[in-house]
Amino acid sequence: MPHIPVLLDAVLEYLLPAARLIDGTLGAGGHSRALLEHGAGAVLGLDLDPSALEIAQAALAPFGTRADIAHASYATMRAEAARLGWDHVEAILLDLGISSMQIDRPERGFAFLRDGPLDMRFNPQDDGLTAADLVNHSDLADLARIFFRYGEEPQGRRFARAIVESRPLHTTRELAEVIERVSPRRKGATIHPATRIFQALRIAVNDELGVVERALPEAIDLLAPGGRLAVISFHSLEDRIVKQTFKRASTDCLCPPKTPVCICGHRAEVRLLTSKPIVAGDEEISRNPRSRSAKLRIVEKCV
Ligand SMILES: C[S@@+](CC[C@H](N)C(=O)[O-])C[C@H]1O[C@@H](n2cnc3c(N)ncnc32)[C@H](O)[C@@H]1O
Repeated sequence: MPHIPVLLDAVLEYLLPAARLIDGTLGAGGHSRALLEHGAGAVLGLDLDPSALEIAQAALAPFGTRADIAHASYATMRAEAARLGWDHVEAILLDLGISSMQIDRPERGFAFLRDGPLDMRFNPQDDGLTAADLVNHSDLADLARIFFRYGEEPQGRRFARAIVESRPLHTTRELAEVIERVSPRRKGATIHPATRIFQALRIAVNDELGVVERALPEAIDLLAPGGRLAVISFHSLEDRIVKQTFKRASTDCLCPPKTPVCICGHRAEVRLLTSKPIVAGDEEISRNPRSRSAKLRIVEKCV
């Protein structure tokens, strides 16, 4: 299934015009292509996934040198921007998480309904941890913690115990079947019982929350005065980090409430443009069900 860019109208409305734009999660290049079509001067697109970059390369080829693509994490966006001589940029987009193409390829190990190796690395060329490493070598307490913390799975310990008793597990279906045995799919249930477990493993394998936490201050720093940072998140853990980082960066004084005079000296670096996140409307959700959980938050760098 081709990846459909979510909340595209709002992304175009808030990020354009922009002479220099970083798309830190390029994916298939859907957002970037539309941004270039609608007047972005130049786009630097980054992604950890080499197969996404191949697709994006073809999508952005018509824009020639206005599109520059690199196999890199958005955590390194400052260095990548410096390579182009950009010390500041007018806009940054982060569309977090996983793409439809990644879910559709069983060999990547993200999908529990199809069989593939337990991998889940965004960058399969990286020799870091895979989901199989976590599933087969973590102790019960660590696995339960991963499921609770990153999957918000209340039955994390039960699942962890069943996994430890069934090891070794090598494929996505083997893991999903263990989860299904512990918690059979109920009629009318909105999500498959393995959804949260797979989400938790994916977040842990790629240190997704740590990366977003470290990258947001850097992204704000990279914005030119009046420049905008837009972040789309797909689950509450990520959205909480975005919301709290934006709140802090848009607040003048961070002293405890009863402090008579400010002693912290903190000054807002950005203005919050979205007091509530922008979400998809019914029409977009029916066209693209993935947009159902998307939340878009935007800040603008103070002048
Ligand atoms: C939701 S998709 C982006 C889709 C894109 N906006 C489009 O319109 O096609 C998220 C992408 O972020 C990539 N990704 C995840 N973590 C990353 C990171 N730390 N640095 C760069 N890319 C990352 C994934 O590989 C995936 O391709």
